[in-house]
Amino acid sequence: MLWFQGRNARLVLVAASLVMGSGAGLAAQDGENPHTSLEDVDAGQRLFGMHCSRCHGFDASGDEGPSLRRGRFRRAQSDAGFFRVISEGVPDTGMPPISRGRTDQTVWQIVAYLRSINQRPESISLPGDAQAGRRLYAGAGACATCHMIAGAGRLLGPDLTTVGDRRSPAELRADLLEPDRDVPLRWWSVRVTYENGRTLEGLRMNEDTYSYRLLDADENLWSVSKRELRERERIETSTMPSYEGELSASDLDDLIAYLFSLRTEESLP
Ligand code: HEC
Ligand code: HEC
Repeated sequence: MLWFQGRNARLVLVAASLVMGSGAGLAAQDGENPHTSLEDVDAGQRLFGMHCSRCHGFDASGDEGPSLRRGRFRRAQSDAGFFRVISEGVPDTGMPPISRGRTDQTVWQIVAYLRSINQRPESISLPGDAQAGRRLYAGAGACATCHMIAGAGRLLGPDLTTVGDRRSPAELRADLLEPDRDVPLRWWSVRVTYENGRTLEGLRMNEDTYSYRLLDADENLWSVSKRELRERERIETSTMPSYEGELSASDLDDLIAYLFSLRTEESLP
């Protein structure tokens, strides 16, 4: 008798947890994304790298699968729609359901990452204050000595007018803390030494067999004939300093919030 009771009780428990399990899943799919913190976005980006990048490209800009950065989607509009596409895949296409390690939380974190690279910045809860970040950018940060936003500033670094379209908060953090990681060729420099010992260093704007065009730190453009050089050295690190330890954690958050808010109107939903 006792045994049966115990067994029944266990069965009831199993049944209850099954119902709760699917109930929770449905609730998750209907509701808003409960995992939208900066940590969730970071986790989502890592998960994306593991599960999705082989088809959608490392930065989601597309490969065998479509770009997931265009701000417009055919298969999913709402957060719940993304949740469904990621959990179930798109039948009869090359888009598989996520398999290993799938929990509601991991799926939501991937949704948060996709939102962060597509959506209005207000829909991501970033810890920083974009207005304070704007002041820091223009003031103490002195970022405009190299960068341009909406036509103001300089061209010694990428134009940041719409940087929020192409970089996630996590990527922006890495841009500020580890500028030397993966420097695009466009931003490599060259240091040349003339026969008479004079040296010159600048961004390589142009190069052909016989000459360079270099842009120095004062934005002077130099034409350099390779024949006149004793030495030339390619520099693959960034001219941007690392702000690791230079900016407080909250300054960094403010700057990221500001940079992330820099978007084109068309990318808004
Ligand atoms: C094996 C390759 C492959 C993998 C892995 C993959 N996808 Fe896809 N994905 C595709 C293809 C192909 C499509 C286009 C399907 C179609 O025809 O609509 C697609 C479509 C999508 C769409 C719909 C795009 C739209 O315009 O609505 C989303 C969102 C998406 N994938 C997200 C993801 C995420 C997130 C992951 C990782 C969890 C992932 N995919 C993993 C190949 C893949
Ligand atoms: C001495 C010039 C210089 C200064 C000062 C500088 N940057 Fe940069 N920055 C660059 C260069 C060059 C790159 C491109 C190479 C790289 O990725 O590091 C870059 C890249 C970036 C990127 C990545 C942009 C993209 O399109 O991928 C961001 C974001 C950025 N900088 C923000 C800032 C902010 C914010 C400040 C001020 C706190 C700052 N930078 C100060 C030169 C500079």
